[in-house]
Amino acid sequence: MAPGTAYIVGILSVGLSIVMQPLHAQVTLDRKPILRRKPQGENAEVSHVTFQTGEYDTLDSYMENYAGLPDLTQFTICVHIKYHRIAENNTLLSYFASGNDDELTIFTNSLEANTLQLYCCGDRVRNYVHYPIRLYTWEHLCISVDLSTKRLTVVLNNEAKEYTLRENDDGSSSSEPLVIQGGGRLVLGQDLDSEEGDFSLEQILACEIADFVIYDVVLTADEMKSFMSCKNSIPFEPIIYVDREMTTLQAVGDTDVSTIPERELCVKDSGHNILFPERVTFKDSVAWCGMLKGKVVLPANQEENIRVYDKFLPFRDACVDSWRTLYYFGAIRNTTTDKWTSYYDGNPIAWENFDVQWNKISNNYGCAAVASLNMKYTWYAIPCESAMCSACNFTSPPKFLIRGLCKTSLLDRTYYLNDYYNGRPLFEGEEHGRIFWNNGTWELRSRRHSGLFATMEVKNSKAYPFGRKTWAIFGDKCDKTKLDLLLTPCSKGEYTCNTGHCIEKRQRCNIAIDCPDQSDELDCDVVNIPPGYNPALPPPRTSGKPLSLAFSFRIITIKEFNLVGFTVVLDAVTSLSWRDSRLTFRNLRPDYHVNEVRRDGQLWKPQLLIRDGARSAVDLEVRSDDLYAMAEDAALPDDVTILSEGNTRV
Ligand SMILES: *[C@@H]1O[C@H](CO)[C@@H](O)[C@H](O)[C@H]1NC(C)=O
Ligand SMILES: *[C@@H]1O[C@H](CO)[C@@H](O)[C@H](O)[C@H]1NC(C)=O
Ligand SMILES: *[C@@H]1O[C@H](CO)[C@@H](O)[C@H](O)[C@H]1NC(C)=O
Ligand SMILES: *[C@@H]1O[C@H](CO)[C@@H](O)[C@H](O)[C@H]1NC(C)=O
Repeated sequence: MAPGTAYIVGILSVGLSIVMQPLHAQVTLDRKPILRRKPQGENAEVSHVTFQTGEYDTLDSYMENYAGLPDLTQFTICVHIKYHRIAENNTLLSYFASGNDDELTIFTNSLEANTLQLYCCGDRVRNYVHYPIRLYTWEHLCISVDLSTKRLTVVLNNEAKEYTLRENDDGSSSSEPLVIQGGGRLVLGQDLDSEEGDFSLEQILACEIADFVIYDVVLTADEMKSFMSCKNSIPFEPIIYVDREMTTLQAVGDTDVSTIPERELCVKDSGHNILFPERVTFKDSVAWCGMLKGKVVLPANQEENIRVYDKFLPFRDACVDSWRTLYYFGAIRNTTTDKWTSYYDGNPIAWENFDVQWNKISNNYGCAAVASLNMKYTWYAIPCESAMCSACNFTSPPKFLIRGLCKTSLLDRTYYLNDYYNGRPLFEGEEHGRIFWNNGTWELRSRRHSGLFATMEVKNSKAYPFGRKTWAIFGDKCDKTKLDLLLTPCSKGEYTCNTGHCIEKRQRCNIAIDCPDQSDELDCDVVNIPPGYNPALPPPRTSGKPLSLAFSFRIITIKEFNLVGFTVVLDAVTSLSWRDSRLTFRNLRPDYHVNEVRRDGQLWKPQLLIRDGARSAVDLEVRSDDLYAMAEDAALPDDVTILSEGNTRV
């Protein structure tokens, strides 16, 4: 106010009347026709959130609601979710109200045999639903709850299941009707242990979610299924939802909010495609994809062709060859018919997109690849000896196991190929590890434990960590700092070659080469002789009993029977069997004849002395003396701390 001016103050007196709302009243909302949050149809975009976008897992990654939930007696939650990693409890949603952290909590638990758990109403309700967690796949989930009728409906990937809400029977049950109290704090992606948060890394959600919505009504199973099929025909407006404008939920920390085409969520599975940016021939592309149990890509229609191309175009610099092509297709020329056929089954290919000028199928142009520059999406016939990238198609993200880490190691043992880092594929650990190309080496790093990492000895810049490699380990709980580890894509019944290739277990030590590096025929001993084993000493007694020895003497032929000289000449086979508790065994097969022990002199053997009637030694000519190991039981469970598979023990 400038000096010299005057002002007047008016004093107003008013009467206040406060209307008391009945406590816990059910809020009835006007059912307005839905204002579509998003456009519908072919090009519809939906909200998309990625939690835990940083290099390390953090407590600072979540979404928070600041508009407040009303009191709820009915609700439905729908979301498309794609897990990246697994924490002990993966908290989708957590709501703290009336001093209670379990006013509403929904999480999946990885320890309790993959359950989805729903706690609500001040911990009065606890429900467990079977829910196997799959990584890197869109899962479509709706949960609807009616607290007055105690109905819970879970729709997972189009399959609906009904449950009755289970009240917590720890004596806290009350006759009050069940209700979720309004006015609290709602968080997605972390578990509220108090109103302040008190988050824990064991309760984070490392995933992508799309089109997250909460309705204050119970949806029908059909309405929920329409959400999953992306033909969303839900006639209600959600009370809470994710959108880029952050109308009802705000992103905090390492959390990225964007949109994605809805059709990405709902397209039929067209395979999981990974590109390896090293240039090789067609034959090597087939071998490379095959080693990881995949096939060279072969799009079945235009949409797949576009999707794969767009995904792999960023690798153009690494992949383009002199033909200006990027990657091979799994199609080859059939020399009889001169037609394009699938390399894998010999059938004519379902779809093709050849350039009119460069479709000259011939002896020299017997392979197909996609053009890199001007001729986007177009195919060329090219020589199979050209060198370009391997684009592989898998039915699900390729999964690998690391063998050879010690029991107490904190490093992840299971990894998936799904993304890229520094221009090469990235192996994401199931819990917190990742293996990535960095500074000329492969590095294995924990997102959880800082200072815990390993680096691979790289002998060739094109090398991948598959198979048996030497790693330097830093900051782990084991005393070894240098270890041979085996990163294997092989399944249970298989043996991993040192190169990473899988062969059947029965091909191991079968006196035929099956691995490219012959490693299947190395180290074929069937006994492990422990340090300090003394072959001069018999096996120690077990539980006070003397060593039991089974003996058989089988006469094959009687060659001479001399009554005058009192001599007999026999051909016989003797067999002795015993247990030596000091030894462990491996690579044992059911037919003991193939389990020959080639460690003469290193093992204790009983001495066989044959005497005649006059107690004098007989003349013995030993023709052969062989030792075999015989399996008594099924093999012990596989032990991943041992480098190679099939370390059985008897
Ligand atoms: C995970 O949830 C279970 C209940 O299913 C609970 O007992 C356990 O303590 C939770 N673990 C963590 C790390 O929060
Ligand atoms: C990947 O494989 C699946 C299953 O065989 C097939 O349907 C799909 O067309 C393939 N996709 C590509 C890009 O090769
Ligand atoms: C080529 O096509 C002919 C005729 O369909 C078929 O009999 C033959 O098996 C095919 N050859 C290969 C290698 O697939
Ligand atoms: C890259 O590796 C070299 C040795 O291999 C090392 O001296 C250098 O510090 C590393 N650089 C980074 C950024 O890690």
